[in-house]
Amino acid sequence: MSEPGGARYRVKPGGSVSGTLTVPGDKSISHRALMLGALAEGDTHISGFLAGEDCLATARALQGLGVHVERPQDTQVLVHGVGANGLAAPQAPLDMGNAGTAMRLMMGLLAPQKFDSTLVGDASLMRRPMERVAVPLQMMGARIHTHEGRPPVQIRGTPHLRAIHYSLPVASAQVKSAVLLAGLAASGRTHLTEPVPSRDHTERMLGAFGVQLAHEGRSIAMEGGQRLRATQVSVPADFSSAAFFLVAGCLAADRPLTLTNIGVNPTRTGLIELLRRMGADIRLHPHAVSGGPNPEPVADIEVRRSALHGITVPEALIPASIDEFPVFFIAAACASGETLVRGALELRVKESDRLATMAVGLGQLGVEHQLLPDGLWIRGAEGLSGATIDSCGDHRIAMAFAVAALRARAPIEIRDVANVATSFPGFAGTARGAGLRIEAL
Ligand code: S3P
Repeated sequence: MSEPGGARYRVKPGGSVSGTLTVPGDKSISHRALMLGALAEGDTHISGFLAGEDCLATARALQGLGVHVERPQDTQVLVHGVGANGLAAPQAPLDMGNAGTAMRLMMGLLAPQKFDSTLVGDASLMRRPMERVAVPLQMMGARIHTHEGRPPVQIRGTPHLRAIHYSLPVASAQVKSAVLLAGLAASGRTHLTEPVPSRDHTERMLGAFGVQLAHEGRSIAMEGGQRLRATQVSVPADFSSAAFFLVAGCLAADRPLTLTNIGVNPTRTGLIELLRRMGADIRLHPHAVSGGPNPEPVADIEVRRSALHGITVPEALIPASIDEFPVFFIAAACASGETLVRGALELRVKESDRLATMAVGLGQLGVEHQLLPDGLWIRGAEGLSGATIDSCGDHRIAMAFAVAALRARAPIEIRDVANVATSFPGFAGTARGAGLRIEAL
């Protein structure tokens, strides 16, 4: 589970970033490609797969359900689909590691099976809320038990689920996706309405696997009982991993920094809008659209050092930038003036409480800030102090503070960084290549 060489980063202050780089494959899309590939009839070929610990946990769980998954190369996967009724009872609880997405989507996939199953995870995942997924699945007739809303999740397989009309109380792609996965096996037409659109990778990918899905106003609707046909999935580089270099570029790209082959699904790229509102110079060079229904849009992204100023984040942009707030807060800490984020309660239930963890670290860097129940107020600083920061085992917190070193006056050391391998294997090497003075210890 660790970055080569250990579990700490030491990042020397200052430096600049430039050049051309790419980042590993998209985590959300890699999870979905494995799961839909498993449910499909035929062999699904995945290229650009994220060989990070989270997606490997999904692959192992599917193997535990009798699916043959081959990985001829690090980023190439061949899933031998077993079809809608082909999964087999697991011999042991399925361990989803640190991966919230994997656990929540698997709940939807496992609820309609003819066998029972149990989902567990690491210490962080065992603290995360699962009731938000269990509730709509129970409305469909699923028998799911959590431990006071948290894992272990015990699923009594129930092959005859009923489709529901469900209005999601929070914008959550994981809840939406779990209901869609269960809805595939349910009788009737599943209708979902979201308060604000969340990432739509599941809908796009279901289309690629031959499933008909209708957009009806702000709702999506899908008939149960549809079969999935195996396909080829080309996973773009993960925008959420590129985000660290987008902010690094704003802070320190004296010459342009170009990130290639990045997924720019509009339900994911809220950070570009936020940084542009702060004054960032970010240019997109879209790739030609490849075939298939609803393919994922891809672009090269060019960023230059820019004088950032603080903003008030519009709540409507939060779902499309939800995973980028750790590094966005670093941008705010280095901007002139004040930045305010409200309505971001979801950040408290990610891999760590990202509002609290970021507030502690920003304080250590000498940044004036106020932790709010559902957000953070930050006054940008000229330069940041050095510090030793505890990432609390949260991969995105660890990478965000590595970026902060570009504007620090003394080294920043970051503890407990092994989980960076869940989403961005090789981060330290890629960051060093871009110009960060980072060592993995
Ligand atoms: C994800 C959805 C988001 C996001 C997570 C990945 C997904 O979570 O934060 O990192 O792949 O569906 P929510 O669904 O809880 O918003």
